[in-house]
Amino acid sequence: MDIDAEKVARLKKGDVPIYEPGLSPIVTKNFAAAQLDFTTDPVAAILHGELIFIAVGTPPGEDGSADLSYVLEVAGTIGRHLGDYAVVVNKSTVPVGTAGLVRAKIKEQLDLRGVEIAFDVASNPEFLKEGNAIEDCMRPDRIVVGSSSSRAIEILRKLYAPFNRNHERLVVMDECSAELTKYAANAMLATKISFMNEIANIAEKVGADVELVRQGIGSDPRIGFQFIYPGAGYGGSCFPKDVKALGRLAKSKGYNARLLSSVEEVNEDQKRKLFSYIEKHFSGDLNGKTIAVWGLAFKPDTDDMREASSRSLIDSLIAAGAKVRAFDPEAIPEAKRIYRGSSEQLHFADNAYEALQNADALAIVTEWKIFRSPNFKQLADLLKHRVVFDGRNIYDPKEVEAAGIAYFGVGRGRSL
Ligand code: UGA
Repeated sequence: MDIDAEKVARLKKGDVPIYEPGLSPIVTKNFAAAQLDFTTDPVAAILHGELIFIAVGTPPGEDGSADLSYVLEVAGTIGRHLGDYAVVVNKSTVPVGTAGLVRAKIKEQLDLRGVEIAFDVASNPEFLKEGNAIEDCMRPDRIVVGSSSSRAIEILRKLYAPFNRNHERLVVMDECSAELTKYAANAMLATKISFMNEIANIAEKVGADVELVRQGIGSDPRIGFQFIYPGAGYGGSCFPKDVKALGRLAKSKGYNARLLSSVEEVNEDQKRKLFSYIEKHFSGDLNGKTIAVWGLAFKPDTDDMREASSRSLIDSLIAAGAKVRAFDPEAIPEAKRIYRGSSEQLHFADNAYEALQNADALAIVTEWKIFRSPNFKQLADLLKHRVVFDGRNIYDPKEVEAAGIAYFGVGRGRSL
């Protein structure tokens, strides 16, 4: 159920409004088999089942704390229409204590109706990654279920039984711990990234190559290779929002979460990194320069540009008087929506090489596979200044330099 009638109409036609590999065929197949339906009618949705998932957005409010108005609006609607016992499941990423607020909101509406209907509230946070959502959903590494009701836990255990393979993946806990687990997971991953970006910055100062350091530390299983890729900073709808919200939550309880503030601060600086390399390379004068930007999405395999590093780079370049020619395999429609189409300063190219036409330099912001093995000779011919700024460290500096192109990665032993 969604209040957006256009979205529901599109879904009914099998037109999935977001880009997520593998999602469309699943939606189409299940809709055709009448296993899945879409509606704008809250009554139909609420009376439909024993489990009601709340999966609305929790955008950051003015002060960085999560805005719960959509979650509580849904809870109120559930209370107004609930007909029989149901488990109301919080899928949205919500601050600790929200399960209690949802319960109170539903109860308030039931009291207004003068009815007594049993219901439970559970917290069941989502850990899937955009671009890999189907795999993460079908083969989860853990399923966190938080509820004080054994009835609710049993219903959720049954629901997830098909995904609970090989060993017990259900981690059952109280609601409050489940809510904090979600924030802790994202904050930990964001911390790994900011830590590695800090090491990259130190590597630049001392003349080390962070890519070698990454391999050197990742092979320790206690550290691991995942989420230690330095670069142009983390973006997306989750890490920036959740690190902020957890910090706000701690503060509201009288605890100053210093580590979280630093994670955020390092990331903000990192998002400006590519621009500062480019600005220094051109001795502070970008007026009239044309910069090609490869990658607009906040990461590969998505068209999502929320908090994307490309946005801070593009905005800074344009503010400095440069022209931008951008290409992304999926995010151009989204970029055109954000920037209201192409303009004199910002041109969206049809392919990666078209973005290089008349460009002085190339900046890589998203590590899409198609950017990984370009024809460096062709790049050298097209780029006026023959320089590449690699915000995701996807190239071997020697290979790029062998084609006569100057190369600047993040933390790769050379300080500009
Ligand atoms: C993240 C988490 O990884 C999911 O587990 C979680 O469910 C999700 O948030 C959520 O809360 O909904 P997602 O935002 O889709 O998933 O993207 P990630 O793959 O985590 O990447 C986030 C950002 O970190 C990207 O901008 C990526 O480029 C950056 N990143 C990632 C790095 O800079 N370095 C790395 O080593 C890894």
